[in-house]
Amino acid sequence: MATERTLSIIKPDAVRKHLVGQIVARFEAEKLTPIAMKMKHLSRQEAEGFYAEHRERPFFSALVDFMTSGPVVLMVLEGDDAIARNRAVMGATNPQNAAEGTLRKQFAESVQCNAVHGSDSPTSAAREVAYFFAQIEQCPR
Ligand code: CMP
Repeated sequence: MATERTLSIIKPDAVRKHLVGQIVARFEAEKLTPIAMKMKHLSRQEAEGFYAEHRERPFFSALVDFMTSGPVVLMVLEGDDAIARNRAVMGATNPQNAAEGTLRKQFAESVQCNAVHGSDSPTSAAREVAYFFAQIEQCPR
């Protein structure tokens, strides 16, 4: 199994609810190791650029409002098969469809305020990691 890196975001809803520690602990328990981490209050331009592929979706403006409503925690997670495993740990985008034991089942409020983001493919992971982190900020274990 290949070692991969993926971008994880703890979203403003989860930060507001003081869930950062619990979410990071879950990633560490799953051997999804944070190798870069920072807290940031995204500007509209940063959020729009990050979610550019959703620009034509009806929820795009509300998504940008939400993602800029407070600070987020940005992380690069490293581990075996990290991209798919992170998505399994997060659960379905809509918490109503998320399996028991997933982060979104446990912590998400709605399809928009869904606690965490994770890259959905190797191509997305490469783009999203590079969007927020320079190579020199990533500290492989
Ligand atoms: P995320 O995994 O960050 O990727 C895109 C985000 O858009 C998604 O999580 C949700 O927060 C949001 N999103 C996706 N579908 C909808 C929807 N139908 N209504 C509102 N927000 C959505």
